[in-house]
Amino acid sequence: MDEKRVKCGAGSEDRMDSPAVNKLSGEKEPVLKIEHMSISFTQYDRGMRQVSLPVIRDLDVEVHAGEMVAVVGSSGSGKSLLAHGVMGVLPYNAAMDGRITYCGEELTRERIEKLRGREIVLVPQSIAFLNPLMKIGPQICKGDKRASAREKLRSIFKRYELDERVGNLYPFELSGGMNRRVLISTALMEEPKLVIADEPTPGLDLAVAKRAMAHFRELADMGAGVLVITHDLELALEVADRIAVFYAGATVEEAPVQDFQDEDSLRHPYTKALWRAMPQHGFHYIEGAQPYVKDLPAGCSFAPRCPQCGPECAREIAYRAVRGGKVRCVRGK
Ligand SMILES: Nc1ncnc2c1ncn2[C@@H]1O[C@H](COP(=O)(O)OP(=O)(O)OP(=O)(O)O)[C@@H](O)[C@H]1O
Ligand SMILES: [Mg+2]
Repeated sequence: MDEKRVKCGAGSEDRMDSPAVNKLSGEKEPVLKIEHMSISFTQYDRGMRQVSLPVIRDLDVEVHAGEMVAVVGSSGSGKSLLAHGVMGVLPYNAAMDGRITYCGEELTRERIEKLRGREIVLVPQSIAFLNPLMKIGPQICKGDKRASAREKLRSIFKRYELDERVGNLYPFELSGGMNRRVLISTALMEEPKLVIADEPTPGLDLAVAKRAMAHFRELADMGAGVLVITHDLELALEVADRIAVFYAGATVEEAPVQDFQDEDSLRHPYTKALWRAMPQHGFHYIEGAQPYVKDLPAGCSFAPRCPQCGPECAREIAYRAVRGGKVRCVRGK
């Protein structure tokens, strides 16, 4: 691995060369570490009563240099909010708590503002994030007119099978799939150390989706930390190193991909249910639905759907380390 790539800029020039190593333990720090992230929205109820809606309650994720971590979870589990929370682009009525560390130091608002779009890049979920009034080329190059930027753009277009003429077109002149490839390209213009990709593959045919995932894998192999948010567990298992599973605003399991070879190696009943829902494991339907934040039960939020649920599941459940992974379930072993 290129040594340069595991050094993280701290967002201030005097620390640009500090390597991501814990000075006390000597261990290499994760590129990104999220601990106990919670996000709530302030809304107005009937009678203009102000209420706080805690949509993310307890998210923990860690990504190391050279590693690709896939975040999976059903719609509404908090995956995009996690990405927006790290990037510092949450809506004005959101409040975030917990701790986000980038290369061993807290990722403050000032720091993310310096690093966003440079060392830390987001490939957003929606193509609506493209500027409709700006041609694709200048948009990907972020206004950089140097010959080196044009050369890089050419090589990126080649990589994503985009015709060079695309650079002169506006987003509305491209198909959905082409715009999605453009979004991925924006991440590759810089040499990012942390890439967060929010559902980068929907709408792409399987071959292109696999290639897009392979490009993210390549970024990880070059030394970046890559966090890919996806609904597609099957695709994630082909390329990622670890899988983090979200359910109703909390991380319920983190497991190395090898553990998905066999259901018994998994730790949480929801992850096992996702495993059984995969086509090669019988396409078994998971009964019930993820509860909305206002209807969360006390204790384990998966309890109403869990075949092993008992009275002890009504207590608050700790997230703990088990067999090289983590689980939020009293029975997980
Ligand atoms: N601005 C907002 N105000 C109130 N609630 C919000 C807001 N944005 C998101 N939420 C709620 O937060 C929860 C998590 O949303 P998020 O977009 O992170 O889900 P997701 O896991 O990315 O879903 P999907 O897979 O559909 O993209 C959802 O219940 C959503 O309704
Ligand atoms: Mg989302």
